[in-house]
Amino acid sequence: MKYWLLLITAIPFWACNAPDQNTASLQRQIDSLQARINKAYKPGFGEFMSGIQVHHNKLWFAGINQNWALADFEINEIKESLDDIRTYCTDRPETKSIGMIDAPLQNIANAIQQKNDTGFKSAFKVLTATCNTCHQATQHGFNVIIIPSLPPFSNQEFRLQDKK
Ligand code: HEC
Repeated sequence: MKYWLLLITAIPFWACNAPDQNTASLQRQIDSLQARINKAYKPGFGEFMSGIQVHHNKLWFAGINQNWALADFEINEIKESLDDIRTYCTDRPETKSIGMIDAPLQNIANAIQQKNDTGFKSAFKVLTATCNTCHQATQHGFNVIIIPSLPPFSNQEFRLQDKK
């Protein structure tokens, strides 16, 4: 009889102990995963900007050569990099200023849709001025962006035979 009593009182302890061990092992897994996330490579603000710099340049040569499909592609690449900044650079206060570039980008997108040569050029000037406005506003005014005079690479053709 006594043994039964012992057994009955011991069961709840087993029952409680097992989840405790599970919780501890889960916590260890979470901690090690968190440590891995903390160490995972994440591109910085400047790296996204360097990508945007290349697309800004290509966008110009696509537009002035009326390669509208490429221009559309390049503007979307810029938008993707800006979205990545919004996702990955939340720790940078400058990210809050990103919105200022949305309207200038939309104006270029409209000119591209309309295949409007002069509209494209003037919208591109406004875009470039906005790059600099943000650099000045974020204490990076020494980073001056201009309308490019040369394409970034020699191995890409901007002018298409049949302009589409
Ligand atoms: C949100 C405001 C903002 C906008 C809009 C912006 N930039 Fe920047 N840019 C920055 C900041 C902040 C840095 C410095 C990043 C760092 O800490 O490395 C920077 C850095 C740069 C750099 C230097 C990158 C390097 O490491 O050499 C280039 C090039 C650049 N931006 C190009 C552009 C172009 C082109 C545009 C417009 C199409 C643009 N930026 C729009 C904020 C902005």
